[in-house]
Amino acid sequence: MLPLLYGRALKPLLFRFDPEKVHDQFVDLGETLGRIPVGRALISAMYGYPREDASVTVDGLRYRTPIVMAAGFDYNGRLASVLPWMGFGGVEVGSVTALPTEGNAPPRMRRLIRSRAIVVNKGLKNEGVEAIAERLATVRTPDDFVVGVSIARSNLESVAGEAEGVEDYARTLEHLVETRIGDFYTINISCPNVHGGESFAEPARLRRLLGRLSRVEHDRPMYAKMPINPGWDEFRRLVDVVEEFGLHGLVIGNLNKDYGSLEHPDEAPPSYRGGLSGRPCHGPSTELLARTRESYGDRFTLIGCGGILSPDDAVEKFQAGADLVHLISGMIFTGPHLMKQIAAAYAAEFGGESREHRRSGQLREQVQGQHPPAGSSG
Ligand SMILES: Cc1cc2nc3c(=O)[nH]c(=O)nc-3n(C[C@H](O)[C@H](O)[C@H](O)COP(=O)(O)O)c2cc1C
Repeated sequence: MLPLLYGRALKPLLFRFDPEKVHDQFVDLGETLGRIPVGRALISAMYGYPREDASVTVDGLRYRTPIVMAAGFDYNGRLASVLPWMGFGGVEVGSVTALPTEGNAPPRMRRLIRSRAIVVNKGLKNEGVEAIAERLATVRTPDDFVVGVSIARSNLESVAGEAEGVEDYARTLEHLVETRIGDFYTINISCPNVHGGESFAEPARLRRLLGRLSRVEHDRPMYAKMPINPGWDEFRRLVDVVEEFGLHGLVIGNLNKDYGSLEHPDEAPPSYRGGLSGRPCHGPSTELLARTRESYGDRFTLIGCGGILSPDDAVEKFQAGADLVHLISGMIFTGPHLMKQIAAAYAAEFGGESREHRRSGQLREQVQGQHPPAGSSG
């Protein structure tokens, strides 16, 4: 009933309007419903996954379902009180930057309906870490709902240089650590649509960035959000740097920059700017995920992200080695019922009782000995 309602009535209506406006209105509505018990009850009755059998513990954090809202949707941290009732086990807020930024010039989002993709050119629009941390400090969520924060470099000319960029990331992390906001941190090294470009998706620069961030002492799991366009050899060199610094895992991955991978390339004229979400992400990101699991075994937590438009797409990510999945586009193209369908598929295929993944604790302890945090005696 709900899938039919969304597919036949709501989606055709919503798709007539500008995607960013629809997004903003959804966030306003979601925030309002999340604040009031009757709103949460209503959403839960429609979209909640009421059972425990899809819950999973990863790096010590308990997720009610293994489905997390990917970075970019709740970029100002306004939805954490409603997402637990929509089948999500967590949210990655952001990407958050040290300074507030307006993002790129509009249009910042375009739907490619036949290709089931969104052209994303947001340019990290967000209110900045101080405002977002202050907001998240007031949000109450269930114990088995995880609120992580994605960290990126402010999209401003003043921090486009490498040294300034590194300090800008560090400033955000330090503020989150000081205010104890964020159950986990993800370092977004792969946002293509910003001043200074995707410059930390390169081994030497990534080493300098992670070297600086590893001097910030904290006890939260940390992940890196990976690009999906490099070939395996280039990708692997980045993974090796991530491993060197003992991060807990990888989100694989970010938007697809290859417009040739669209099912209907005629939908995107050459004037379009930005990365592609949705369907074009599925193949490349799942392949990199599978190869990473194959090559690195259980040394990393792996988070599958990109083009999950059906429960089968999610199951494919888990079979390829994902501990969790992140998604946005599936909720838009398939509908808000998708998360409970994925949770049910996960429970049927892998669940039945809460699962525990703790892959990288040992690695992290070993590596911390080699890269002691600032102020430590080692
Ligand atoms: C509107 C929009 C904004 C996004 N902004 C960010 C961002 O700020 N940081 C980030 O790491 N990823 C961002 N992404 C990428 C998503 O987190 C995800 O990697 C990508 O959309 C693939 O997943 P999907 O196919 O389920 O949408 C954004 C995606 C969309 C659709």
